[in-house]
Amino acid sequence: MKRIALFASGSGSNAEKIATYFADNADIDVSLIVSNNHKAGVIERARRLHIPVLLFDRKTFYETDKITQLLINQEIDLIVLAGFMWLMPSDLVRSFPNKIVNIHPALLPKFGGKGMYGHFVHEAVVAAGETESGITIHYVNERYDEGQVIYQASCPVLPTDTPDDVARNVQVLEHTHYPRVIAEVLAGLS
Ligand code: GRF
Repeated sequence: MKRIALFASGSGSNAEKIATYFADNADIDVSLIVSNNHKAGVIERARRLHIPVLLFDRKTFYETDKITQLLINQEIDLIVLAGFMWLMPSDLVRSFPNKIVNIHPALLPKFGGKGMYGHFVHEAVVAAGETESGITIHYVNERYDEGQVIYQASCPVLPTDTPDDVARNVQVLEHTHYPRVIAEVLAGLS
């Protein structure tokens, strides 16, 4: 049995797609949805999906090792960030080497790093006159958006596209590819 903990701070559409993808897989269990935002839409999705939710605040996350210990105790094999907005603490990254993955809504290394999240990414892509955008699924290290790339997929950006159009097209790629790439990462785990 491989166990996944999903980290999300927002709506959780990716978290839901991932949980649904593995719902009838006897070997892979989405054990936990973890969030730093008690108002996050992902909490309602977790309730509907009957997945336990763990909420924490900044102090617990950054000044204790409680979350790390809990994830170890729950025998989590892979931590999946799906719209999680905080940096992962170093002790957590060190405790799960090459076992934390993230999805970024752009073709890293372009349009990554501080402040490049959500709509800001798509606005920057349109402002830069890019002819394509896409997703990057990567391992998380202590420098966040700079971990080894696992998978990228691209979509065209037309001159008439607005940031909302790009966001919609990128989200289709997220929902299409993230669950499958997670399954491939898990298959590769010893
Ligand atoms: C997605 O755009 C993802 O690429 C980024 O955060 C967003 C999460 O969206 N990491 P949702 O909460 O899964 O709908």
